[in-house]
Amino acid sequence: MAALIGTACSAQDPPAAAPGPDPVDTTAAAVRTTSAPRHEFDRTAHSTTDPASMWVIVNKSHPIHPLDYEPAITLVRGYQVATPAAGPLTALLAASDRQGLGLKIASAFRSFGYQEGVYGDLVAADGREEADRVSARPGYSEHQTGLAVDLVTPASPACDFEACFASTPGGRWLAHDAWRFGFVLRYGPGTAAVTGYSPEPWHLRYVGRALAAELRRTHTTTLEEFFGVAGGDYRS
Ligand code: DAL
Ligand code: ZN
Repeated sequence: MAALIGTACSAQDPPAAAPGPDPVDTTAAAVRTTSAPRHEFDRTAHSTTDPASMWVIVNKSHPIHPLDYEPAITLVRGYQVATPAAGPLTALLAASDRQGLGLKIASAFRSFGYQEGVYGDLVAADGREEADRVSARPGYSEHQTGLAVDLVTPASPACDFEACFASTPGGRWLAHDAWRFGFVLRYGPGTAAVTGYSPEPWHLRYVGRALAAELRRTHTTTLEEFFGVAGGDYRS
């Protein structure tokens, strides 16, 4: 599977200066008092339909528009990533390296045509019903926005793209700390009815640190529930 969906480009030096995650005002929350007005999170601050928006929702009910969309790309460790996510992803991987976790990118941006191949191969191997549980049809994958990445840990190759990735040190760290870099686990445990996919503890989606922190603060596990947007199965 890793070889199937890897999207490495010719390697080049990573960005010289990796910008950190966009800031979030944790201080305000820490010093809030009963008399101070509560800061309301603005759920309309970014588009949920523009594929270039870090809040875009792409799921089985909401294909990418236009279908041939391609993001502005920056390479991170040789992989194509939407430019706004590149600095935060670089920072996340550097933090993972410092902790000895060694997380690696296995898949990042996937074009419509590339996703056709990924999905088609899975249908050929396992049938359409099973393929739909684990792979988006072309035009319906977050990977086409360049904001999603799949990570693996070379120390536990048997858990690459498997449920047991969640129990690896890297998987546990991502579940706990990816939000600090503006990423969420898009297909978490118990979310299949909402997202339309089996849990994927390796699939990270960049949403920016403010939203990642708000999702965590409110214990909201899907973008669909946070924004009140339909997910679930294909319409046809
Ligand atoms: N595996 C995810 C759902 C995708 O194909 O985009
Ligand atoms: Zn993925």
